[in-house]
Amino acid sequence: MTSSATPIAVLISGRGSNLVALAEAIERGEIPARIVLVVSNEPAAAGLERARELGLEAVAVPHRDFGSRAAHEAAILERFDGVAAEWICLAGYMRLLSSDFVRRYPNRVLNIHPSLLPAFPGLEVQQQAIDHGVKLSGCTVHLVDAGLDSGPIVLQRAVAVRSHDTADDLAARILEQEHLAYPEAMRKLLVEPWAIEGRKVVFFPSSAAGHGDPP
Ligand code: GRF
Repeated sequence: MTSSATPIAVLISGRGSNLVALAEAIERGEIPARIVLVVSNEPAAAGLERARELGLEAVAVPHRDFGSRAAHEAAILERFDGVAAEWICLAGYMRLLSSDFVRRYPNRVLNIHPSLLPAFPGLEVQQQAIDHGVKLSGCTVHLVDAGLDSGPIVLQRAVAVRSHDTADDLAARILEQEHLAYPEAMRKLLVEPWAIEGRKVVFFPSSAAGHGDPP
């Protein structure tokens, strides 16, 4: 970890296994970043404790304490400003972010979703995939826009759906791939030149463009 490492804040709501995967990849030197703050909207989230065990600063900002989404988000943004976060990683964060929030970090909010988007956005997606009868599912890391699981795709990993999978079986195999995909996506975004073309995230082979500069 160096002082030039990009400061990242992570938003969680639950167990935080993707947060841990990111933190461990950073610790191994695979991502030139440092996690400067973990925020959960759920005070009882197991991920808060896991973050603290890793030596990370972790706080609850419970949405129930605020009268409106805007007030809750303002409190989170104040925390993020306090640690000068440059990237925001959503890792099982179970609330929609407003377009005002997303605009504060243009193309700098990342999410992981347990399906091959645009198939099966939203909730209970492994059950949706099984019910639909797809033979492949997986996970998607994408930049966050104002829509639901709709922003430009950074990276996907596929997982075969087996005939007798339950939603839990499939979720467990997808989660293994999530733990590879999220650190890999973050690494690519920080290390490789890239740009948004239309709704595509395009990575360049050389240093022809900056990180996230317009083409
Ligand atoms: C993951 O499946 C992620 O794709 C989804 O919520 C789950 C969070 O798991 N958005 P964890 O809290 O990172 O363990």
